[in-house]
Amino acid sequence: MRRNFNFDVKGLLAEDRAHSMHPWHSFAKQDHTLLVDSEGIYVYDGAGNRYIDGIGGMWAVQLGYGNEEMAQAIADQVRQMVYYSPWSMTTVPHAEVSAKLATLTPGDLNRFFYSAGGSEANDSAVRFVHYYWNVMEQPQRKFIISRQDAYHGSTYLAASLCGKPGNDNRMELITDWIARVSSPNPYRKPDDMTDDEFRDHLVKEFEDKINEIGAEKVAAFIAEPVLASGGVIVPPKGYQKAMLEVCRKYGILMISDEVVTGFGRMGHFFASEPVFDIVPDIITSAKGFTSGYIPAGVTCISNKLHQDIIDKAGEGAVFSNGFTYSGHPVAMAAALKNIEIMERDNLMEHAQVTGAYFQEKLRGLADLPMVGDVRGVGLMGCVEAVSNKKTKKAFDGALEVGKRIDKKCQEKGLILRPMWHLCVFSPPIIITKNQVDDMVGIMEGAIKSVADDLVREGAWDGKD
Ligand SMILES: Cc1ncc(COP(=O)(O)O)c(C=O)c1O
Repeated sequence: MRRNFNFDVKGLLAEDRAHSMHPWHSFAKQDHTLLVDSEGIYVYDGAGNRYIDGIGGMWAVQLGYGNEEMAQAIADQVRQMVYYSPWSMTTVPHAEVSAKLATLTPGDLNRFFYSAGGSEANDSAVRFVHYYWNVMEQPQRKFIISRQDAYHGSTYLAASLCGKPGNDNRMELITDWIARVSSPNPYRKPDDMTDDEFRDHLVKEFEDKINEIGAEKVAAFIAEPVLASGGVIVPPKGYQKAMLEVCRKYGILMISDEVVTGFGRMGHFFASEPVFDIVPDIITSAKGFTSGYIPAGVTCISNKLHQDIIDKAGEGAVFSNGFTYSGHPVAMAAALKNIEIMERDNLMEHAQVTGAYFQEKLRGLADLPMVGDVRGVGLMGCVEAVSNKKTKKAFDGALEVGKRIDKKCQEKGLILRPMWHLCVFSPPIIITKNQVDDMVGIMEGAIKSVADDLVREGAWDGKD
C-alpha cells in the first residue's frame, strides 16, 4: 500500500509556499500536501502514503490515474502534430472529436467550440448568446439568469455567473446584466413545503424574475443540472424540465453547464437528456471530457442557433471569440481516446451500476451523529454535517467540521473535498463496489471520531 519515494518533500513544499499561488489562494495559511504518484483510483503523497481519490482530482479524473492508453495517445499526438493555430488550420483530432461529439450530444447540439476548461467554455457560451441576440436584432436581450449556490468558473464573466457563498469576497463582478434566483436545495426548503411544492415555488420565482427584468431583456438561463461545487444540490424532481419550459415560453435560451455532470459522472456522456429530460440550446463541459489528462473545455451549440445566424447575417458573420488553445490537438487526441475507452469498456453502464451502489452506501451514513443530509446522484455525493438534525442548524464555521472530517479521512487513506460543513465525493468512475465500500467505511469512522472529539472538547452537546 505504501510506496517509497525520494523527494525533498519539505523543501518542495517550502518552495511552493514561497512562490506559488493556488486557486483560492490563501495569503497567510497554506497547507497543501505534495502528491507524487498515482495509479487507478489511488494517489500517493511524498511520504509514500496511499489515498483513495474520493474526488477524482476535482470532478475530473474519470478514467483514474496512470492510464497507459491515454499516455500513449497524448505522446503520439505530441510527436505527430503538437499544435497549430486553430484560426487558420484544423487537425485530425480536432475534426474527429467534433464528429464523435455530434453522436453523443442530445438533439441538434452539433457545433463545438473548444477551450482550455470549464470557465472558458461558459464564458464562450455567454459571449455566443449575446452575439446571437445582437445578430437577431434583439440587442436588449442581455440578462443572464443564474442561481444561488451555482459555480460556473473563475474568469471575470464565469465568476460573475456564480452564486456560491464567498465568491464575491472583495472581488469585482459584473452585476448590471446578471440576475440570480434561489438555490433549488430541497434540504433547505421551507418546512411546510413538499418537494413538488418547492419545485413549483422555484419555477414561479424564476418566471417572476423574468417578468421583473422584462422578458424581452433576458438572454439566457444558465444552470448546472446538479449544482456541484455548491454542495451537490440535486433539485426536486421535474425542476430542470419545468425551468426549460419557462425559458421556451419567453424565448430565452438555456445553457446547461455539464462541466461536472458530463462524461460519466452520472452514467451518461451528457446527463441533460437521459437523466433530466431536457435538450437545452447550449451545453458546456470540461473536466471528464479528457478525464483531466489535458486541460480542455467544450461549448456545444445547437445547429438551430448556428443556422439562425447564417440566415440572418449571411455566411460572412463572424463570432470573434477564440483562444490560442481552442481545439489544441493534444487535448483533442486525449478527448478522443478518453471517449473511445469509455465506450469500449462500457464505463457508462459501470458508472450507472456503481453510482447506484455508491448512493445506497452513502445513504447508510444518514443515521450517524451530526449527519443532517446525505445526497447525490450517480458518482457524486455529499454529506452535510449539522449541529442539530431537527433544526438543521449548521456548526459554527470556526469549528471547520468539514476540514476535521477530511483530516481524519486522510489519516485513514481517503481524500475528499471539505467545504464548510459539507464533505463532497466524486471518485473516478472506474471505482469498483469494493472500493466504494472502503471509501464509505473510512468516511463513517471519520464522522464518528470527529463527533466524539467535538463532544470531548465541549464544542458540541452531542444531542442531534
Ligand atoms: C459546474 C462547473 N462549471 C464550470 C467550472 C469551471 O471549470 P474550470 O475550473 O475548468 O474553468 C467548474 C469547476 O469546478 C464547475 O464545477
